[in-house]
Order: sequence, then structure tokens, then C-alpha cells
Amino acid sequence: MAGPMDEAAVKQHLSKVPLFSGLSPKLLHTLAATARDKSYSAGDVIVRQGDKSFGLYIVVEGKVDVEKAGKTVATLGPGQFFGEMALLDEEPRTATVKAAARSRCVVVFSWEFWSSVGKDPEALRSLLKESVRRLRGSAPAPED
Ligand code: CMP
Repeated sequence: MAGPMDEAAVKQHLSKVPLFSGLSPKLLHTLAATARDKSYSAGDVIVRQGDKSFGLYIVVEGKVDVEKAGKTVATLGPGQFFGEMALLDEEPRTATVKAAARSRCVVVFSWEFWSSVGKDPEALRSLLKESVRRLRGSAPAPED
């Protein structure tokens, strides 16, 4: 895997992420200038259930497994994101996310998120929509 991405490469990746498709060039620029890319080997823990950390991760290469109590509940690939739950409520991480292969993520830190994506209602809406979809997916079936 190549070395760290420069700002232009980060911007190029972020511009292809559906979540950010409505961001103005200015907000996308702010986001890219402050985001960091991180590389992982297969098996690396990226975020751990119960930890307090508030970055939003966008997968740009490879794939990651989302695990709850040791069970894989989802696998995410390029263009998908994770970490939005702790970002939104500042509570501990709800799941452990591990690299399922050599992977690369762009990390948007919470304070940078709120000054860029947080200003775009459409981006916030799609983030919340995906978050709710994940919660619905893991909710117990209603009792009859
Ligand atoms: P967060 O709780 O901040 O950190 C762990 C992340 O795993 C969580 O945010 C979501 O992004 C992700 N996650 C949790 N549950 C699911 C799920 N059922 N499907 C997909 N992703 C999930």
C-alpha cells in the first residue's frame, strides 16, 4: 500500500463518497484539509466497542467487519462509513470495527465534522438515515 495520501488525494476520495455528494466545494475542501488517512493490516482493531473516541471513518480501500459481542453484524467497503454513532451522541463505541483485509480509512475528527459536514443538512440527513437503518437492522423483532 502506498504512503500517506496528500490533501488532493484525500479530497478526491471524499468527493466520491455518497454521504458527501451534496457538500459544497468549500466544505469538501475544509473536510479534506483536516481529515487524516490511516492504513490497517487484516485483523487490526480500528475502533473498539466501549471506547470513547469520536472520529467518523470512511473506508477508502479494503473492507472492515463490524462486530458486536464477537459476532460480525456487517461488513463495510469503499465509500461506506462507520463511527457516526459515537460522533453523534458522544457515548462509547457501540461495536468493534476490525480490518478484514489490508484497508485504508479517511478519519474525520468530530470538531472538524461539525464545522464542515455538520453544516450541510443533506449530509446530516443521509448520515442519520444510515444510522437509523443500522439500528433498525439490529433491533429485536417486535413482540406479538
Ligand atoms: P460507533 O458506535 O461510533 O462505533 C462503532 C460503529 O460500528 C458504529 O458507530 C457504527 O458506525 C457501526 N455499526 C454499529 N452497528 C452496526 C450495524 N448493525 N451495521 C453496520 N454498522 C454498525
